[in-house]
Amino acid sequence: MNIGKLLGFLAALAYFGSLMNLVTKRLNQYLVRRKSKIKLDKRLIQLFVRYHRFWGIAAAGFVLLHFVVQYTRYGFISRTGMTAALLMLLQASLGCFGQYIQKKRPGLWLNVHRLVAIALLIAIGFHVA
Ligand code: HEM
Ligand code: HEM
Repeated sequence: MNIGKLLGFLAALAYFGSLMNLVTKRLNQYLVRRKSKIKLDKRLIQLFVRYHRFWGIAAAGFVLLHFVVQYTRYGFISRTGMTAALLMLLQASLGCFGQYIQKKRPGLWLNVHRLVAIALLIAIGFHVA
């Protein structure tokens, strides 16, 4: 495993950690609504929901490092990688806007943020395949 690949895998891992924000919240809502006896561990919710921004910032950071290493090593631009990376930077900017300027108030930014999360899944899938 070279460092370039490793950084790519770390970026993908942090991306899935970011996506877990949605997964844990929805699963928790579902269990509460069904009055299920099964409860999600508070620490799990905290890890993915409260610390969502750190997962997202880590994902964008690893993508930048992955880009620098791959670009200097291979000297060519992966088109699928570039698409995924641009979406990732857009996603991080939207997230920061929502977090620090809108103070987490839902709005258009949040719906776009959700859409870009799904687009990223597809883009990363094409890049890694
Ligand atoms: C969201 C953005 C990105 C993610 C999550 C990501 C993730 C990954 C992963 C997990 C791999 C390893 C795949 C494998 O070995 O089968 C990889 C490989 C690669 N990525 Fe990316 N990447 C991203 C963006 C980019 C960008 C912007 C470039 C442009 C330079 C790039 C260039 C490459 C190259 C050249 C490889 C092949 C490396 C090798 O086989 O040693 N990636 N990427
Ligand atoms: C890989 C990058 C990211 C992905 C895939 C991602 C994904 C998501 C998704 C799917 C939601 C909707 C959650 C729901 O409807 O339950 C969300 C919400 C949100 N995201 Fe992100 N996000 C990323 C990065 C960031 C960053 C970097 C920040 C801030 C610095 C951020 C801040 C927020 C905020 C404030 C919300 C709304 C409130 C909340 O759910 O906590 N996101 N994100």
